[in-house]
Amino acid sequence: MTATRWTPRALTAADLPGLLAVQRACYGEGFVEGAEVFARRLASPVNCSLVLEHAGEVCAYLAAYRSHLNKVTPLHGDFGGGPPAAPGSAGTAAPDTLYLHDMAVLPALAGQGLARALLAPMWERARHEGLRHSALVSVQGSQGYWERHGYAMQPLADAVQRERLATYGEGAVYMVRAIG
Ligand SMILES: CC(C)(COP(=O)(O)OP(=O)(O)OC[C@H]1O[C@@H](n2cnc3c(N)ncnc32)[C@H](O)[C@@H]1OP(=O)(O)O)[C@@H](O)C(=O)NCCC(=O)NCCS
Repeated sequence: MTATRWTPRALTAADLPGLLAVQRACYGEGFVEGAEVFARRLASPVNCSLVLEHAGEVCAYLAAYRSHLNKVTPLHGDFGGGPPAAPGSAGTAAPDTLYLHDMAVLPALAGQGLARALLAPMWERARHEGLRHSALVSVQGSQGYWERHGYAMQPLADAVQRERLATYGEGAVYMVRAIG
């Protein structure tokens, strides 16, 4: 089975029951996030999440949004809320980072390129939009997986962001790669 078989589409509120089922199958209790926070994330203007279906059921998803470098979304946190505007400027700073909050593939379909099929168009769109970085928090021993996709661990200088990272527990790592 090749990655070209899988065509992602935008994640919608109607997908949330299926997303929660995939999430439960992939994560221990400690990482399960609720329907309410996912619904708020989907309603955010910075949301750009994708989903894959198989036989009419959600089988994989990539929850993502346009964010800022060195800014971590805590577990159960909302998408958005950029850094404050620079003095003298209007509004908040423009996003520069594609933030991958959560990616999960139904275990029965693992290793068949579904994750790659979600990531490739996500990075491509980010490149078109002029985002310069992609960032994420690696959990569940996935650091090696992300390194193979070009991400590298990046220390966080800001104490608030380190506290947000700590909501994922021991072993969680902030990682960044360039786009383009
Ligand atoms: C990580 C995950 C999304 C990969 O999905 P997938 O569709 O199986 O990935 P792909 O088929 O595109 O790629 C599979 C490759 O990734 C590797 N891989 C999968 N999980 C890995 C992990 N935790 N660490 C290192 N490599 C991993 C496989 O060994 C395989 O390698 P190969 O291509 O050299 O054979 C999936 O295993 C998953 O849902 N895991 C549970 C949720 C999770 O931990 N998400 C990441 C949190 S940051």
